[in-house]
Amino acid sequence: MIKTSASAKIILFGEHAVVYGQPAIAVPVSDLRAYVSVERARNDLKIFSLNKGELVKVTRKNAHPLAVTARLTLEKIGYHTLPGLTLKLKSDIPMGSGLGSGAAVSTAIARALCAALNKSLPLEELNAVVYEVEKLHHGTPSGIDNTVIVYEQPVYFVRGKPLETFSIGKPFTLLVGDTGIHSSTKITVADVRILYDSDPARITPIFERIGEIVRQARAAIETGNIEALGPLMNENHALLRDLTVSSVPLDTVCQAALEAGALGAKLSGGGRGGNMLALVTEETAPTVSEALLKRGAVRVIQTAVQFTESRL
Ligand code: MEV
Repeated sequence: MIKTSASAKIILFGEHAVVYGQPAIAVPVSDLRAYVSVERARNDLKIFSLNKGELVKVTRKNAHPLAVTARLTLEKIGYHTLPGLTLKLKSDIPMGSGLGSGAAVSTAIARALCAALNKSLPLEELNAVVYEVEKLHHGTPSGIDNTVIVYEQPVYFVRGKPLETFSIGKPFTLLVGDTGIHSSTKITVADVRILYDSDPARITPIFERIGEIVRQARAAIETGNIEALGPLMNENHALLRDLTVSSVPLDTVCQAALEAGALGAKLSGGGRGGNMLALVTEETAPTVSEALLKRGAVRVIQTAVQFTESRL
C-alpha cells in the first residue's frame, strides 16, 4: 500500500513583506500533515478528498487544483498517459488558516503519483510543480509556503534567491492559535498590493523594517537567544496591522497571549483570520493556551521548533 504525506507550515516572521523581496522565516509543523494513499484502478485517474467528500476526475482539461497537480506531476516525470489509479486524500491541516494546507495537499499528491509510478522527482522540481498550483490558490505567491513544505526544513527565504536553511541554536516552543476565521491569502495579498501601489513611500519603510526584524530573528534563533524573539514578534505583528492584515480577533488573541505570560505574539500567514503564534516556555504554555481558548481561539496546537536533519 502506497501512502505519502506532507507537513503543515508556519511563517515565523516576514509574511507579506516577502512578496516584495524581503526575507522571511518559516518552519514545518511535522505533526500536522496531509496524507494520500493510492489504489490501482482499471482505467481512469481519480482523486477522492475524504475531508470534502469530493471526487475529482483527472482529465486533460479539468482545471480543479487537484487535477492540475496530478497533470503537472505526470508531465514532469515524463508520463504521457493518465494512469489507472485512485488517490485518497485525507488532511489533518485546517484549510484557509495559514498553515499551508493547499501546498501540503499538492505535495502529498505529487509524491503519491511518483511513488505509484516508480519515478522520482528531485525536490527542486517537485517545488516547481507545487508553486504552479499555489498560483491557482493564491494569485501571486512568493513561493515560501511550497518551499518550506516540500523541503520540510526551517527556511530563510528570499524570493528568487537560492534556498537557505539555518541552524536552531536552542529549541523553542510555540502555540499556534486558530481564530477559526477562514481568510483568503489571495485577498490579503491583493489588498496589500493596492495599499502599496497607493502610497509606496509610506509602505516601503514598513516592508524594510519587517526585513530587518527577520534578519535579527534569524540571528537570535541561531544563537539560541530565544528571549529576543518575543519583542520582534510583537513588532512584526504591529507592522502587519499597519499593512491592514490583522483583525480584531487576531489582535485580541495576541493580547490575551501576552497578558497570560507569552514572550511574544503575532499573526502568522495571510492574516485577517487564520492563525497566530505565541512564544511560550514549558511553564507558561498551559496558562497561555487556556487564555487563547478563552479569548476566541477555536484550537491551539503546541509545536517545538528544533533542529532537523538538513535535506537541502
Ligand atoms: C502566506 O502564507 C504568506 C504571504 O506572505 C503570501 C506569500 O508569501 O505568498 C502572506
